[in-house]
Amino acid sequence: MNTKVWKVDKYVDNLESNPHVVDAAHFLRENEVVALPTETVYGLGGNAESDEAVAKIFAAKGRPVDNPLIIHIAEKQQLNTFVTEISAKAEVLMDKFWPGPLTIIFKKKAGVLSEKATAGLETVAVRMPDHPVALALLKKCGLPIAAPSANSSGKPSPTKAEHVIDDLAGKIAGVLDGGSTGVGVESTVIDCTETIPVILRPGGVTKEALEAVIGEVTVDAALTDPGAKPKAPGMKYRHYAPNAPLIMVSGTREFLQHLVEEKRQEGLRVGVLTTEELESAYQADYVLACGRRADLETVAAALYETLRRFNELDVDIIFSEMFPQTGVGDAIMNRLQKAAGNKIITE
Ligand code: TXA
Ligand code: MG
Repeated sequence: MNTKVWKVDKYVDNLESNPHVVDAAHFLRENEVVALPTETVYGLGGNAESDEAVAKIFAAKGRPVDNPLIIHIAEKQQLNTFVTEISAKAEVLMDKFWPGPLTIIFKKKAGVLSEKATAGLETVAVRMPDHPVALALLKKCGLPIAAPSANSSGKPSPTKAEHVIDDLAGKIAGVLDGGSTGVGVESTVIDCTETIPVILRPGGVTKEALEAVIGEVTVDAALTDPGAKPKAPGMKYRHYAPNAPLIMVSGTREFLQHLVEEKRQEGLRVGVLTTEELESAYQADYVLACGRRADLETVAAALYETLRRFNELDVDIIFSEMFPQTGVGDAIMNRLQKAAGNKIITE
Protein backbone atom coordinates (compact mmCIF):
# COMPACT_ATOMS: atom_id res chain seq x y z
CA MET A 1 0.00 0.00 0.00
CA ASN A 2 1.25 3.47 -0.87
CA THR A 3 1.05 5.57 2.30
CA LYS A 4 0.14 9.18 1.49
CA VAL A 5 1.79 11.98 3.43
CA TRP A 6 -0.42 15.06 3.72
CA LYS A 7 1.34 18.12 5.18
CA VAL A 8 -1.07 20.44 6.97
CA ASP A 9 -0.23 23.73 8.68
CA LYS A 10 -2.13 23.58 11.97
CA TYR A 11 -2.25 27.37 12.27
CA VAL A 12 -4.28 28.11 9.14
CA ASP A 13 -8.00 28.85 9.36
CA ASN A 14 -10.80 26.69 8.08
CA LEU A 15 -8.93 23.39 8.31
CA GLU A 16 -12.13 21.44 7.71
CA SER A 17 -12.03 22.47 4.06
CA ASN A 18 -8.28 21.90 3.67
CA PRO A 19 -8.01 19.44 0.74
CA HIS A 20 -5.67 17.12 2.67
CA VAL A 21 -8.06 16.96 5.62
CA VAL A 22 -10.94 16.32 3.21
CA ASP A 23 -8.92 13.54 1.56
CA ALA A 24 -8.06 11.92 4.92
CA ALA A 25 -11.71 12.15 6.06
CA HIS A 26 -12.74 10.41 2.86
CA PHE A 27 -10.38 7.51 3.61
CA LEU A 28 -11.81 7.23 7.13
CA ARG A 29 -15.35 7.01 5.77
CA GLU A 30 -14.15 4.26 3.43
CA ASN A 31 -12.95 2.34 6.51
CA GLU A 32 -9.27 2.89 5.73
CA VAL A 33 -6.89 3.95 8.52
CA VAL A 34 -4.93 7.20 8.66
CA ALA A 35 -2.52 8.67 11.20
CA LEU A 36 -3.31 12.07 12.67
CA PRO A 37 -1.53 14.50 14.98
CA THR A 38 -2.98 15.13 18.44
CA GLU A 39 -1.62 17.33 21.24
CA THR A 40 -0.13 14.26 22.96
CA VAL A 41 1.22 11.82 20.32
CA TYR A 42 0.20 10.82 16.79
CA GLY A 43 -2.80 8.49 16.67
CA LEU A 44 -3.73 5.83 14.11
CA GLY A 45 -7.38 6.57 13.38
CA GLY A 46 -10.14 4.39 12.01
CA ASN A 47 -13.96 4.36 12.04
CA ALA A 48 -14.86 3.12 15.54
CA GLU A 49 -18.19 1.77 14.28
CA SER A 50 -16.55 -0.52 11.74
CA ASP A 51 -15.03 -3.93 12.51
CA GLU A 52 -13.20 -3.72 9.20
CA ALA A 53 -11.51 -0.39 10.02
CA VAL A 54 -10.68 -1.41 13.58
CA ALA A 55 -9.18 -4.71 12.40
CA LYS A 56 -6.88 -2.68 10.12
CA ILE A 57 -5.66 -0.62 13.09
CA PHE A 58 -4.75 -3.75 15.09
CA ALA A 59 -3.09 -5.35 12.06
CA ALA A 60 -0.97 -2.29 11.14
CA LYS A 61 0.33 -1.91 14.70
CA GLY A 62 0.64 -5.60 15.51
CA ARG A 63 -1.40 -4.80 18.62
CA PRO A 64 -2.73 -7.56 20.93
CA VAL A 65 -6.51 -7.83 20.36
CA ASP A 66 -7.31 -7.71 24.09
CA ASN A 67 -6.09 -4.11 24.32
CA PRO A 68 -9.02 -1.69 23.75
CA LEU A 69 -8.73 1.59 21.85
CA ILE A 70 -9.56 5.18 22.84
CA ILE A 71 -12.50 6.67 20.92
CA HIS A 72 -11.89 10.25 19.75
CA ILE A 73 -14.72 12.75 19.32
CA ALA A 74 -14.99 16.43 18.35
CA GLU A 75 -18.35 17.24 19.98
CA LYS A 76 -19.56 16.25 23.43
CA GLN A 77 -23.00 15.23 22.17
CA GLN A 78 -21.43 12.36 20.18
CA LEU A 79 -21.06 10.64 23.57
CA ASN A 80 -24.81 10.10 23.87
CA THR A 81 -24.81 7.68 20.96
CA PHE A 82 -22.47 5.14 22.58
CA VAL A 83 -22.34 5.82 26.36
CA THR A 84 -25.11 4.86 28.84
CA GLU A 85 -24.42 7.24 31.70
CA ILE A 86 -22.32 10.30 32.44
CA SER A 87 -21.54 10.89 36.12
CA ALA A 88 -21.50 14.38 37.63
CA LYS A 89 -17.73 14.11 38.11
CA ALA A 90 -17.23 13.12 34.47
CA GLU A 91 -19.25 16.21 33.44
CA VAL A 92 -16.97 18.44 35.49
CA LEU A 93 -13.86 16.81 34.03
CA MET A 94 -15.10 17.21 30.46
CA ASP A 95 -15.96 20.88 31.02
CA LYS A 96 -12.57 21.58 32.52
CA PHE A 97 -10.21 19.42 30.43
CA TRP A 98 -11.80 18.82 27.02
CA PRO A 99 -10.49 19.28 24.49
CA GLY A 100 -7.28 18.06 26.12
CA PRO A 101 -5.10 15.14 27.22
CA LEU A 102 -7.68 13.39 29.41
CA THR A 103 -9.35 10.08 28.50
CA ILE A 104 -12.48 9.18 30.47
CA ILE A 105 -13.87 5.65 30.86
CA PHE A 106 -17.68 5.40 30.66
CA LYS A 107 -20.21 2.55 30.63
CA LYS A 108 -20.79 1.57 27.03
CA LYS A 109 -24.08 1.39 25.14
CA ALA A 110 -24.17 -1.97 23.36
CA GLY A 111 -24.36 -2.37 19.61
CA VAL A 112 -23.00 0.98 18.38
CA LEU A 113 -19.22 0.72 18.35
CA SER A 114 -17.21 -2.15 16.94
CA GLU A 115 -16.73 -4.77 19.68
CA LYS A 116 -13.13 -5.06 18.51
CA ALA A 117 -12.51 -1.39 19.38
CA THR A 118 -13.47 -1.94 23.01
CA ALA A 119 -12.01 -5.47 23.15
CA GLY A 120 -15.45 -6.72 24.19
CA LEU A 121 -15.48 -4.71 27.46
CA GLU A 122 -18.63 -3.14 28.90
CA THR A 123 -16.84 0.17 29.19
CA VAL A 124 -15.40 2.58 26.63
CA ALA A 125 -12.52 5.08 26.79
CA VAL A 126 -13.20 8.47 25.16
CA ARG A 127 -11.32 11.68 24.62
CA MET A 128 -11.56 14.95 22.71
CA PRO A 129 -8.08 15.84 21.45
CA ASP A 130 -6.86 19.45 21.63
CA HIS A 131 -5.30 19.73 18.19
CA PRO A 132 -6.77 21.79 15.34
CA VAL A 133 -5.95 19.17 12.68
CA ALA A 134 -7.42 16.30 14.73
CA LEU A 135 -10.57 18.27 15.51
CA ALA A 136 -11.00 19.33 11.87
CA LEU A 137 -10.62 15.72 10.70
CA LEU A 138 -13.08 14.42 13.31
CA LYS A 139 -15.65 17.06 12.35
CA LYS A 140 -15.17 16.50 8.65
CA CYS A 141 -15.66 12.73 8.79
CA GLY A 142 -18.46 12.95 11.38
CA LEU A 143 -17.54 9.58 12.92
CA PRO A 144 -16.25 8.50 16.32
CA ILE A 145 -12.63 7.61 15.57
CA ALA A 146 -10.77 4.83 17.37
CA ALA A 147 -7.11 5.80 17.63
CA PRO A 148 -4.26 4.17 19.53
CA SER A 149 -0.81 5.73 19.33
CA ALA A 150 0.47 5.38 15.75
CA ASN A 151 3.58 3.29 16.52
CA SER A 152 4.31 -0.38 15.99
CA SER A 153 3.16 -2.12 19.17
CA GLY A 154 5.88 -1.99 21.83
CA LYS A 155 7.86 0.91 20.27
CA PRO A 156 7.99 4.44 21.64
CA SER A 157 4.90 6.46 20.64
CA PRO A 158 5.32 8.85 17.69
CA THR A 159 5.63 12.58 18.32
CA LYS A 160 6.40 13.43 14.66
CA ALA A 161 4.97 12.22 11.36
CA GLU A 162 8.45 10.83 10.52
CA HIS A 163 8.15 8.40 13.45
CA VAL A 164 4.81 7.16 12.09
CA ILE A 165 6.34 6.69 8.64
CA ASP A 166 9.32 4.79 10.13
CA ASP A 167 6.94 2.33 11.81
CA LEU A 168 3.88 2.11 9.55
CA ALA A 169 4.76 3.14 5.95
CA GLY A 170 3.12 0.76 3.51
CA LYS A 171 0.65 -0.47 6.15
CA ILE A 172 -1.73 2.52 6.38
CA ALA A 173 -3.55 4.75 3.87
CA GLY A 174 -1.88 7.97 4.95
CA VAL A 175 -0.56 10.31 7.59
CA LEU A 176 -1.60 13.91 8.21
CA ASP A 177 1.67 15.64 9.05
CA GLY A 178 0.91 18.50 11.43
CA GLY A 179 4.45 18.81 12.79
CA SER A 180 5.60 17.88 16.30
CA THR A 181 2.98 17.09 18.92
CA GLY A 182 3.04 19.22 22.09
CA VAL A 183 2.64 17.30 25.35
CA GLY A 184 4.73 14.34 24.18
CA VAL A 185 3.25 11.68 26.49
CA GLU A 186 -0.21 10.16 26.07
CA SER A 187 -3.41 11.28 27.76
CA THR A 188 -4.21 10.49 31.37
CA VAL A 189 -6.77 7.66 31.52
CA ILE A 190 -9.33 7.99 34.34
CA ASP A 191 -12.11 5.53 35.14
CA CYS A 192 -15.23 7.49 36.04
CA THR A 193 -17.49 4.45 36.40
CA GLU A 194 -16.39 4.23 40.07
CA THR A 195 -17.67 6.58 42.81
CA ILE A 196 -14.10 7.64 43.47
CA PRO A 197 -12.51 7.95 40.02
CA VAL A 198 -9.35 5.91 39.41
CA ILE A 199 -6.33 6.91 37.33
CA LEU A 200 -5.40 3.92 35.14
CA ARG A 201 -2.58 5.64 33.27
CA PRO A 202 -0.76 8.84 34.29
CA GLY A 203 -0.47 11.34 31.43
CA GLY A 204 -0.87 14.87 30.22
CA VAL A 205 -3.31 15.94 32.98
CA THR A 206 -1.77 15.51 36.43
CA LYS A 207 -3.41 13.93 39.49
CA GLU A 208 -3.09 17.27 41.26
CA ALA A 209 -5.04 19.03 38.48
CA LEU A 210 -7.78 16.36 38.57
CA GLU A 211 -8.14 16.52 42.36
CA ALA A 212 -8.38 20.30 42.22
CA VAL A 213 -11.70 19.98 40.35
CA ILE A 214 -13.32 16.71 41.54
CA GLY A 215 -11.72 16.03 44.92
CA GLU A 216 -10.36 12.59 45.79
CA VAL A 217 -8.94 10.51 42.95
CA THR A 218 -7.24 7.14 43.47
CA VAL A 219 -4.54 5.44 41.46
CA ASP A 220 -4.76 1.90 40.05
CA ALA A 221 -2.69 -0.40 42.29
CA ALA A 222 -0.74 -1.67 39.27
CA LEU A 223 0.86 1.76 38.85
CA THR A 224 2.76 1.36 42.10
CA ASP A 225 2.92 -2.44 42.38
CA PRO A 226 4.31 -4.13 39.26
CA GLY A 227 2.83 -7.44 40.52
CA ALA A 228 -0.80 -6.19 40.48
CA LYS A 229 -3.07 -6.71 37.46
CA PRO A 230 -3.70 -3.36 35.72
CA LYS A 231 -7.28 -2.23 35.03
CA ALA A 232 -6.21 -0.74 31.68
CA PRO A 233 -5.39 -3.85 29.64
CA GLY A 234 -2.67 -2.00 27.71
CA MET A 235 -0.69 -1.26 30.87
CA LYS A 236 0.36 -4.90 31.26
CA TYR A 237 2.52 -4.86 28.13
CA ARG A 238 6.14 -3.78 27.86
CA HIS A 239 6.00 -0.55 25.89
CA TYR A 240 8.01 2.34 24.62
CA ALA A 241 11.17 0.26 24.57
CA PRO A 242 14.25 1.28 22.60
CA ASN A 243 16.12 -1.62 20.91
CA ALA A 244 18.95 -1.70 23.45
CA PRO A 245 18.20 -2.60 27.08
CA LEU A 246 17.38 0.46 29.19
CA ILE A 247 18.15 0.60 32.91
CA MET A 248 16.96 3.27 35.33
CA VAL A 249 19.57 4.47 37.82
CA SER A 250 18.59 5.77 41.23
CA GLY A 251 21.56 7.57 42.76
CA THR A 252 24.12 10.25 42.19
CA ARG A 253 25.59 11.16 38.84
CA GLU A 254 28.94 9.75 40.02
CA PHE A 255 27.22 6.40 40.60
CA LEU A 256 25.69 6.46 37.09
CA GLN A 257 29.09 7.38 35.62
CA HIS A 258 30.63 4.45 37.51
CA LEU A 259 28.06 2.05 35.97
CA VAL A 260 28.91 3.41 32.53
CA GLU A 261 32.61 2.76 33.07
CA GLU A 262 32.01 -0.81 34.25
CA LYS A 263 30.07 -1.61 31.07
CA ARG A 264 32.62 0.11 28.82
CA GLN A 265 35.33 -2.01 30.38
CA GLU A 266 33.31 -5.06 29.32
CA GLY A 267 33.56 -3.72 25.76
CA LEU A 268 29.96 -2.49 25.50
CA ARG A 269 28.92 0.76 23.87
CA VAL A 270 27.02 2.70 26.49
CA GLY A 271 24.36 5.41 26.20
CA VAL A 272 23.18 7.82 28.88
CA LEU A 273 19.74 9.46 28.97
CA THR A 274 20.02 12.72 30.87
CA THR A 275 18.83 16.33 30.51
CA GLU A 276 20.45 19.50 29.16
CA GLU A 277 21.66 20.44 32.63
CA LEU A 278 24.01 17.42 32.87
CA GLU A 279 24.66 16.67 29.20
CA SER A 280 28.36 17.54 29.45
CA ALA A 281 28.84 15.98 32.90
CA TYR A 282 28.86 12.36 31.66
CA GLN A 283 31.45 10.48 29.68
CA ALA A 284 29.90 7.70 27.63
CA ASP A 285 29.69 6.60 24.00
CA TYR A 286 26.46 8.55 23.56
CA VAL A 287 24.94 11.08 25.93
CA LEU A 288 21.47 12.29 24.90
CA ALA A 289 19.76 15.21 26.62
CA CYS A 290 16.00 14.88 26.95
CA GLY A 291 14.67 18.38 27.70
CA ARG A 292 15.47 20.33 30.84
CA ARG A 293 15.07 18.80 34.30
CA ALA A 294 14.09 22.21 35.65
CA ASP A 295 11.01 22.07 33.39
CA LEU A 296 9.58 18.54 33.30
CA GLU A 297 7.19 19.44 30.48
CA THR A 298 10.20 19.76 28.16
CA VAL A 299 11.32 16.27 29.26
CA ALA A 300 7.85 14.84 28.43
CA ALA A 301 7.86 16.56 25.04
CA ALA A 302 11.29 15.10 24.11
CA LEU A 303 11.00 11.66 25.75
CA TYR A 304 9.86 9.41 22.89
CA GLU A 305 12.02 11.11 20.31
CA THR A 306 15.05 10.60 22.57
CA LEU A 307 14.21 6.90 22.99
CA ARG A 308 13.88 6.62 19.20
CA ARG A 309 17.22 8.41 18.65
CA PHE A 310 19.00 5.70 20.64
CA ASN A 311 17.80 3.25 17.98
CA GLU A 312 19.80 5.11 15.35
CA LEU A 313 22.97 4.79 17.41
CA ASP A 314 25.24 1.85 17.80
CA VAL A 315 24.54 1.35 21.47
CA ASP A 316 24.45 -1.87 23.55
CA ILE A 317 23.01 -0.59 26.82
CA ILE A 318 21.39 2.66 28.02
CA PHE A 319 21.39 4.09 31.55
CA SER A 320 18.73 6.67 32.40
CA GLU A 321 18.44 9.17 35.19
CA MET A 322 15.29 9.14 37.34
CA PHE A 323 12.79 12.02 37.48
CA PRO A 324 10.71 13.36 40.37
CA GLN A 325 7.17 11.90 40.34
CA THR A 326 5.37 15.20 40.62
CA GLY A 327 3.18 16.78 37.94
CA VAL A 328 3.95 15.34 34.52
CA GLY A 329 6.97 13.58 36.12
CA ASP A 330 4.52 10.83 37.08
CA ALA A 331 3.85 10.06 33.41
CA ILE A 332 7.54 10.38 32.47
CA MET A 333 8.58 7.85 35.13
CA ASN A 334 5.71 5.50 34.23
CA ARG A 335 6.85 5.41 30.58
CA LEU A 336 10.55 5.09 31.43
CA GLN A 337 9.88 2.26 33.88
CA LYS A 338 7.91 0.44 31.21
CA ALA A 339 10.59 1.09 28.61
CA ALA A 340 13.09 -0.37 31.08
CA GLY A 341 10.88 -3.39 31.82
CA ASN A 342 11.10 -2.15 35.47
CA LYS A 343 14.88 -2.66 35.59
CA ILE A 344 16.34 -0.27 38.12
CA ILE A 345 19.72 -0.10 39.86
CA THR A 346 19.80 1.71 43.19
CA GLU A 347 23.00 3.11 44.65
O1 TXA B 1 -2.90 10.47 24.13
C1 TXA B 1 -3.48 9.40 23.85
O2 TXA B 1 -4.29 8.88 24.62
C2 TXA B 1 -3.15 8.75 22.51
C3 TXA B 1 -3.65 9.68 21.40
C4 TXA B 1 -3.45 9.09 20.03
O3 TXA B 1 -5.00 10.01 21.63
N1 TXA B 1 -3.73 7.46 22.42
C5 TXA B 1 -3.27 6.38 23.12
O4 TXA B 1 -3.90 5.19 22.84
O5 TXA B 1 -2.37 6.46 23.92
P1 TXA B 1 -3.30 3.75 23.25
O6 TXA B 1 -4.17 2.79 22.54
O7 TXA B 1 -1.85 3.72 22.94
O8 TXA B 1 -3.59 3.61 24.77
C6 TXA B 1 -4.91 3.41 25.25
C7 TXA B 1 -4.89 2.95 26.69
C8 TXA B 1 -4.44 1.50 26.79
O9 TXA B 1 -3.64 1.34 27.96
C9 TXA B 1 -5.78 0.76 26.93
O10 TXA B 1 -5.66 -0.48 27.58
C10 TXA B 1 -6.59 1.75 27.75
O11 TXA B 1 -6.23 3.02 27.21
N2 TXA B 1 -8.05 1.56 27.59
C11 TXA B 1 -8.80 1.72 26.47
N3 TXA B 1 -10.09 1.41 26.70
C12 TXA B 1 -10.18 1.04 27.99
C13 TXA B 1 -11.24 0.60 28.85
N4 TXA B 1 -12.50 0.48 28.41
N5 TXA B 1 -10.94 0.29 30.14
C14 TXA B 1 -9.68 0.42 30.60
N6 TXA B 1 -8.62 0.84 29.84
C15 TXA B 1 -8.87 1.14 28.57
MG1 MG C 1 0.17 3.32 22.82
